[in-house]
Amino acid sequence: MTAQRIYDTVADDFDRVNDLITRRLSSDVPLVEKIAQHIIQSGGKRLRPLLVLLSAKSLNYKENDHLKLAAVIEFLHTATLLHDDVVDTSDLRRGKTTANARWGNAPSVLVGDFLYSRAFQMMVELGSMPIMDVLSNATAVIAEGEVLQLMNVKNPDVTEAQYMTVIHNKTAMLFEAASHAGALLAQAQPEQVVAMKYYGMHLGLAFQLVDDVLDYRGDATAMGKNVGDDLAEGKPTLPLIRAMSHSNESDRTLIRRAIRQGGLDDLPGILAIVEQSGALDYTLAVARDQAQKALGCLDTLPESEHKAALARLTDIAVARIA
Ligand code: IPE
Ligand code: IPE
Ligand code: MG
Ligand code: MG
Repeated sequence: MTAQRIYDTVADDFDRVNDLITRRLSSDVPLVEKIAQHIIQSGGKRLRPLLVLLSAKSLNYKENDHLKLAAVIEFLHTATLLHDDVVDTSDLRRGKTTANARWGNAPSVLVGDFLYSRAFQMMVELGSMPIMDVLSNATAVIAEGEVLQLMNVKNPDVTEAQYMTVIHNKTAMLFEAASHAGALLAQAQPEQVVAMKYYGMHLGLAFQLVDDVLDYRGDATAMGKNVGDDLAEGKPTLPLIRAMSHSNESDRTLIRRAIRQGGLDDLPGILAIVEQSGALDYTLAVARDQAQKALGCLDTLPESEHKAALARLTDIAVARIA
């Protein structure tokens, strides 16, 4: 199954989610709409709404609330991106100038808040306490993950375990909430609900691990965001953490200094070390292991094209170039 084919299994729903997203962006305040539209219309892979649709459909959901749930998840995601680009001082997102680079930090933060709030309004419309529980909890955990990561910035002593906690919170949590809430909506069996929750978590971990590899090995045009952003911020991601424990004294010293200082002066040297020490390959191997675990969670689902699409998504999370 190709990547396109995955989307095709829910093509109509996907279009309806995009319509709903556009409609619910409306605001009487022009700048709110402008900034929200700027980031939403820039595209993005819409992976998390896809996850909602596929998890609900694979569990035989027949009604229409999965569309709203998918839109809610994308709004939450987009709000985190607006805030994240301020925190990371990024200037490229989805192939376009970031909202913070274009309009400044203050409007970006505030429109991020608007998107969060709109997501919560729509969540209330869904009228499900269990789903509200999952999503409100996820939102708090994501915020904690971003703060935790901020505390780790420029610290070369962050461990692999601490890094895994950060990526679990900041990224895997929303993937987890997407597939978990989709299963809850479908009123699946309790063991299926739990399996779908863990499917999303493992997929999200794999996804962020690969994203952290792409920050060193990727292509800015394909990704729509810059290479080297993590190093520039002094972010101790797994490629650096692993390279420090698997390289010689002088390489280790170079990496420690680069993390402490941030900036891109040492990028060429660091690129060589993360490749040659096997740290990027190691990070990919950890990602592959997570993807495999995600695949295993699908055993409890009945056979269907949607289940096949979820299975295929575990390959794509690792093989992606963007
Ligand atoms: C970006 O997520 C943030 C991370 C968790 C790395 P995506 O790569 O899914 O972003 P879009 O929505 O496709 O732009
Ligand atoms: C993504 O984190 C933002 C959230 C998950 C909240 P990153 O900072 O690692 O991702 P990019 O590289 O900006 O997309
Ligand atoms: Mg960022
Ligand atoms: Mg960030």
